[in-house]
Amino acid sequence: MTRPKVFISRKMRDAGLDLVLEFCDADVWDEEMPPTRDVLLEKVRGVDGLLSMLTDRVDAELLDAAGPQLKVVSNHAVGFDNIVVPDATARGIPIGNTPGILTDATADIAFALLLTAARRIVESEKYIREGKWKTWHPSMLLGMDLAGKTLGIVGFGRIGRAVAKRAVGFGMRIIYYSPGAESEFGAIKMNSLDELLHESDFVSIHTPLNDSTRHMVNADFLSKMKPNAVFINTSRGPVVDQAALYEALKAKQIFAAGLDVTDPEPLPLTSPLLTLENCVIVPHIGSASERTRDDMARLAAENLIAGLKGERLPHCINPEVYENFQK
Ligand code: DGY
Repeated sequence: MTRPKVFISRKMRDAGLDLVLEFCDADVWDEEMPPTRDVLLEKVRGVDGLLSMLTDRVDAELLDAAGPQLKVVSNHAVGFDNIVVPDATARGIPIGNTPGILTDATADIAFALLLTAARRIVESEKYIREGKWKTWHPSMLLGMDLAGKTLGIVGFGRIGRAVAKRAVGFGMRIIYYSPGAESEFGAIKMNSLDELLHESDFVSIHTPLNDSTRHMVNADFLSKMKPNAVFINTSRGPVVDQAALYEALKAKQIFAAGLDVTDPEPLPLTSPLLTLENCVIVPHIGSASERTRDDMARLAAENLIAGLKGERLPHCINPEVYENFQK
């Protein structure tokens, strides 16, 4: 029996790679940088399956370059803003993603950023290395408390709720804005985003990136936050208008920000955000723990293999393909 041909656009963890290699002939991209668009279009030509990363744009052009034999695209991420889903659905191609397994790792990073920004950890560390630590002083490097303060969560899905769970242990009051989402961990539902912004000492974003959330965090949003508020984003960079965030942080209109995601990624060294003491930035490491990346690789492999076998994907973001098409 001929083995299916697949392209894997980055070398992923063995936990998933080994599963794919058992079943398929895989071309694995193992360079430091991702394939360029032209290379990607060339690499997918004639494959039965594509295992894509969040850095690859999957759209009509790429699906057509692959050809009509393409059976499945498995995205090695829970987010899928890199994929033009209707283009895949129109061609009857199921798209897999990796929900659930990176919830805790991402909530941990959101909370790490929250503590780091509130208690000025990066600035304090730099203070020592720059030889500024001369003595203890009652007013040295003062930050913001968590206990008794209000955490506002925008988007109360899996990760938002996992952040709420952590906040309970820190004695925070939790509010959220997320139409349709039920309360958990004692979180109080807000009727509007404005209401949440007015009440929150900390605001953490957990929405997907789409047309309604792009630049949701703009000058207007930031102007409604409390003067000592801390802003956290672990969702997607383009949810934030970075120029507006820079102005708000520079003018000390809010206290600090912690970002795991930026626009673009990587963030250029010329970004003005990097000149600010009150902005902590890490390079999209929300899911970057060994176990989580093993689990993501495994689930991405399982989605890929199911699609190649013509079976329903364990996690499919466009299940309507199963109603419309028989592939
Ligand atoms: C995802 O899976 O969408 C994450 O952003 C990766 O860390």
